[in-house]
This record gives sequence, C-alpha cells and structure tokens, in this order.
Amino acid sequence: METYNYKVVRQFAIMTVVWGIVGMLVGVIIAAELIWPQISMDLPWLHYGRLRPLHTNAVIFAFGGSALFATSYYVVQKTCHTRLFSDGLAAFTFWGWQLIIVLAAITLPLGLTSGKEYAELIWPIDILITLVWVTYALVFFGTILKRKVKHIYVANWFYGAFIITIAVLHLVNSAAIPVTLTKGYSAYAGAIDAMVQWWYGHNAVGFFLTAGFLGMMYYFIPKVANRPVFSYRLSVVHFWALISTYMWAGPHHLHYTALPDWAQSLGMVFSLILLAPSWGGMINGIMTLSGAWHKLRTDPILKFLIVSLSFYGMSTFEGPMMSIKTVNALSHYTDWTVGHVHSGALGWVALVSIGSMYALIPWVFNKPGMYSNKLIDTHFWISTVGVVLYIAAMWIAGVMQGLMWRAVNPDGTLTYSFVESLEATYPFYFVRLLGGALFLFGMFIMAYNVYKTVAGSEITDEQVAQPAH
Ligand code: HEM
Ligand code: HEM
Repeated sequence: METYNYKVVRQFAIMTVVWGIVGMLVGVIIAAELIWPQISMDLPWLHYGRLRPLHTNAVIFAFGGSALFATSYYVVQKTCHTRLFSDGLAAFTFWGWQLIIVLAAITLPLGLTSGKEYAELIWPIDILITLVWVTYALVFFGTILKRKVKHIYVANWFYGAFIITIAVLHLVNSAAIPVTLTKGYSAYAGAIDAMVQWWYGHNAVGFFLTAGFLGMMYYFIPKVANRPVFSYRLSVVHFWALISTYMWAGPHHLHYTALPDWAQSLGMVFSLILLAPSWGGMINGIMTLSGAWHKLRTDPILKFLIVSLSFYGMSTFEGPMMSIKTVNALSHYTDWTVGHVHSGALGWVALVSIGSMYALIPWVFNKPGMYSNKLIDTHFWISTVGVVLYIAAMWIAGVMQGLMWRAVNPDGTLTYSFVESLEATYPFYFVRLLGGALFLFGMFIMAYNVYKTVAGSEITDEQVAQPAH
C-alpha cells in the first residue's frame, strides 16, 4: 500500500509552533520598545528599526510559511490520494526554508537589509529563497500531476495560486544589481520602484497571507466540522474572483504620493471590488457549519477556525474602506494601519493556523487527539482577548493620531505638535503590549500541549492512521 510522506508535515508543523513563539516574542519586545526605548540598551542589533523587520519576517515567513508548507503538503497528498512527488525534494524545502529563516535572524539584527518592506533580505538569501521556492513548486505540482483522482480539490487551487504568485512577486520585486556580498541596488528607480514594491507588498498580503490560508480554511473547516463545503460552486467563483482582483489593488499603499493619480484611483476601485470575493469566501466558510453549529459549543478547534474567519471578514471590510483616498488621508501613517494589519495577521492568519495545527498534529503523529482539549479552549479565549485588546487599542490610537495631526487653529497653525500626539498614544501602547503578551502566553500553552501530545512518539508513515475522506 502506498503511504504518504507525513515526516515533512510533522517537521513543518512543529516549526510552526516554534517560529510562532519566536516571532511573537520579538513582536512583544518591539511593542515594549515603543514604550521604553531604553530596553534596547543602545545595542544596535536590539534597536527597534532592526528588530521590527525581524518580527515581520519571523511571523509571516517563518511562522505563517511553516504552517502553509505543513498544511499544503498534507492536503495535496490526501486530496490527490498519492504520496508527495519526491521525498528528497520535500526534505530540501524543509531544511532550505529553516536555513533561510536562520540567515534572516542573523542578517536583519546586523542591519543588513535591502530596505524593501517584507522583502528585506539581501540578494544572496534571495537566491536561496528562489531555489527553495522552485523546489516547493516542483513537489506540489508534481504531486498534483501524479494524482489518483481526476478532480483537483479547491484547496489545492488556492495553494497552487499562492505558490506561483509568490514566485513571480519575489523574482520581480527582488531584482537587484549586486555591489558586494551583502549589498545590492534595486533594479528599479523612483516611483517605479515604489510601485513594484507595493505591487509585491499587497500581493504578499493577498497570496501569502490570504490565498494560502484560504486553502487551509477550505480543507480544515469541512474536515473538522465533518460537513461538506457550503457551496462548492461558490468556492470556485471565490477563487477566480479573488486572484484576478488582488493583482490590481497595490497602489492603495501609495495614495497621495508621486504615483500617477489614475493608478491610485485604479488601486482604490479594485480594493473596493475586493470586498465581494473576500466576503463570498468568508460566508462560504462560515456557512459550512450549517447544521453543525452546536459543535462550536464543544469543539475548541472549530472555535479557532470560525473566529479566524470572522476576523478575515472584518479586516477585508476595513481594508477596502481604508483604500478610499479620503479615508486613507486620515489612516495612513497612523496606528490604524497597524491595527488593520494585526486584525488580519493575528485574528485571521494566526488563529486559522493555530486551529489547523491543533487538528493536524494528532493526525500526523498518530494520536487520537491533542493531549488536552481544555488547554485548547483556554488558548482560544486568551488569544481572542489578546487580539481584541491589540486591535481596539490601535484603532482608537490611530484615529486619534489622524485627527490630532490634521487639527488646525483658526489662524491656520497646527493645534498639536507631533510629540503631543505621541504622548497621547502611550496608554494605547500599554494596552497593545498587554494584548500581545496574552497572545504570546497562549502560544506557550500551545507548545506545552503539543509537547505532551507528541513527546516520545517514534512513528513511521505506515503507522499513521488514514482519516477517512
Ligand atoms: C504577540 C503578537 C504580536 C505582537 C505583540 C506584534 C507587535 C507588532 C509591533 C509592535 C509592530 C510594529 C508597529 C509599528 O511599527 O508601529 C508590528 C508590526 C507588524 N506585525 Fe506584528 N505583532 C504580533 C504578531 C504578528 C503576527 C502573528 C503577524 C503576521 C502573521 C504580524 C505581522 C506584522 C506586520 C505585517 C507588521 C508591519 C505592519 C506595518 O508595516 O504596518 N504580527 N507588530
Ligand atoms: C479586501 C482586502 C483588503 C484590502 C482592500 C486592504 C487594504 C489595505 C489598505 C488600504 C492598507 C493601508 C495602506 C496604507 O495606508 O499605507 C492596508 C495595509 C495593510 N494590510 Fe490590508 N487590506 C485587505 C486585507 C488585508 C488582510 C486580510 C491582511 C492580513 C492578513 C492585510 C494586511 C495588511 C498589511 C500587512 C498592511 C500594511 C502594509 C504596510 O504599510 O506595511 N490586509 N491594507
């Protein structure tokens, strides 16, 4: 009997928890630095400006990336009824990805950066990323090609679009002229460089932080709820509508800049259109629970998954609103953006990953379930309270900053100095720190629960029970 490659899934699943803790710990540290800058002890490699990209890289690419690798490798095997295309190449993607993360953790605190947000890594690491990513594509699409069933389940479409798009984005945006081993110059100049960067940046949100996780949603919610997808037809419409709209929305990051005005307006219009496919997908996920709502009362994993979709709905409503130029005039540069980011990143990306890991880990370690359901429930409540504190604090702080910055006296002078707006923000930074610390604490609970579930298990792929489909 053909067995599946669960080893690589197990490896990535465990690293999801490890990198989640590391990335969020750095998040808590920089949240604290915004209140007490002196805790960096004036060591350059602990400064806010160096740790911030370390945080974003660690949570997006190490934590989120590991969750995407783990689940995509699992889902593609289960839904194609076949083993991964190549064990050796899959192992290469695991070790290669971990090496990239370690290199990022060394170079970013040293201040070695390309200066492009979410694409900070220097050119030699960019080449390594390309190698690993092309291998990932080979393993994933190779598995699809050797599938034993005709149909390609919708989750694989989302994972596939994520893999192809990230390859294209990375290649185009990271194009650089190397000067030394650690320094290169972007291949683009001026406003074009900015446009390419935010075409990349927004689609990194759309494909790394959204499409891949929607693939996760389309497999894990039906599986955990034990219900078919509410509307399979809607899921296909959702897919095509989402991927064709995301590509054009990037200019909303560059409102009121040197970018041509028509490009800004185009970005705004496509961002508004994006609300429809986003909500179509959210409704499809939530309605999959029809007839099984009672399970929400007892199944903490389902709570994670469904609440993550609610945050997805919230952030994809908020995003289109913030893309309206007059609204963006208030929100841009303020903590409102940071609130929006974390309602998507913590509320959607982190919660859906955590829920999926709680489901996946017992499956691939051949256990009847997680060590403690009670601890999953505790984790759920702690992290939900954490996200709400974080984003509510940032929303209030952001709108307040925007209003203070634009307030003018009758004689035309500014009512508030910048420092006054900063002082007014401190209480909200405390609340954010508290919310972030709670979320991190939840991750430690998860680590303990995972450890108790898997400790001491020596398993081979043959032993892993095959949950029925
Ligand atoms: C314990 C949890 C977390 C804490 C305490 C935290 C804290 C922070 C802080 C303090 C910043 C800098 C904000 C600023 O510059 O004003 C930040 C930025 C950011 N974080 Fe987090 N974070 C957490 C989790 C996450 C997760 C899980 C993700 C993604 C999956 C994420 C993605 C980001 C992104 C993309 C930015 C940059 C935002 C921007 O440029 O507007 N964070 N975070
Ligand atoms: C319909 C969907 C969405 C739209 C139209 C949208 C729109 C926007 C807008 C207008 C901004 C502010 C740009 C600025 O003023 O600089 C923004 C920032 C951001 N959004 Fe969204 N958003 C959407 C969904 C999401 C989701 C689901 C996530 C995360 C999972 C997310 C992550 C981010 C990040 C990381 C930034 C900050 C980028 C930066 O400046 O560093 N967005 N988004």
